[in-house]
Amino acid sequence: MKGRRRRTPIKKVYFYQMIRFHAINGRLTNAAEATLHVSDLAILRGYGVFDFFLIRNGQPLFLEDYLDRFFNSARLVELEMPVSRDELRDQVLELKKANALEKGAIRLVLTGGYAEDSFTPGSPNLLVLAHAYHPPMGLTHPEGVKLVLQEFQREFPEAKTLNYGYAIRMRHQLQDAGAYAGLYHQDQQVLESSRSNIFFVFEGRVLATPADGILPGITRMHILKIADTLMPVEVRPISTSEIRHAREAFLTGSNKPIVPVIQIDEQIIGNGKPGPVTRQLSAAWEDYIQIR
Ligand SMILES: Cc1ncc(COP(=O)(O)O)c(C=O)c1O
Repeated sequence: MKGRRRRTPIKKVYFYQMIRFHAINGRLTNAAEATLHVSDLAILRGYGVFDFFLIRNGQPLFLEDYLDRFFNSARLVELEMPVSRDELRDQVLELKKANALEKGAIRLVLTGGYAEDSFTPGSPNLLVLAHAYHPPMGLTHPEGVKLVLQEFQREFPEAKTLNYGYAIRMRHQLQDAGAYAGLYHQDQQVLESSRSNIFFVFEGRVLATPADGILPGITRMHILKIADTLMPVEVRPISTSEIRHAREAFLTGSNKPIVPVIQIDEQIIGNGKPGPVTRQLSAAWEDYIQIR
């Protein structure tokens, strides 16, 4: 490289706040020492559930909804929650305070616990983890993204389990296809994306999202509430053959509220640009969360 000047790449620099504590089984623990024993079933068998929500302006966004879902996930995989809902809420608020977390996220994890025989669940371990995180607000990927259809359904669709093995393994295939994520389908029915829910806009500004076989997304739930006052809404089975009639499509998820979808496999959605309904809902979402 002699004689050639090396250019420093221009990088966006974020100053992430230092996370000092996590809560392990209700005890505030130095983040660097927050560990589980190797016999936990989350490690040995991938058995456990989790949830994830944002802290915005020092407040958890939609905390009660995420608590509902976390308890429901535990029930669906038959793990017993070691604390009451009030105790868990207190742990979240205490951890947020201990880290002086203004902007970030909290991850709740309930594991299968320590298993003597490496199979039978023990007492579940409950982790409340703080993340320094800059949530992208507003329309991320404003130019829109491509999805690739993948025939797959998660094992316990309505539970947020720790098992994202399929999605993680598929990441190279997606990269090669220039795709942002997979769009799962089963028996000709569209389900969800690997880490988000899917919405379509059909003729007449009809907003539609699959009804079953999916994670009931918290963002999805609130988008449905917002849209209900603005346009016709349908929560129903959506077949893969309907994709070609979609005028618009977008993904929703906690850390990227609305991501416009402009292509699914070789099918261009609408005119290949984020559409007016997607933009309208994105703006409405901004207003909606301001008052939460
Ligand atoms: C499989 C799956 N579907 C949907 C979602 C979107 O849910 P939420 O809006 O609650 O983040 C997620 C989020 O992680 C997910 O993992």
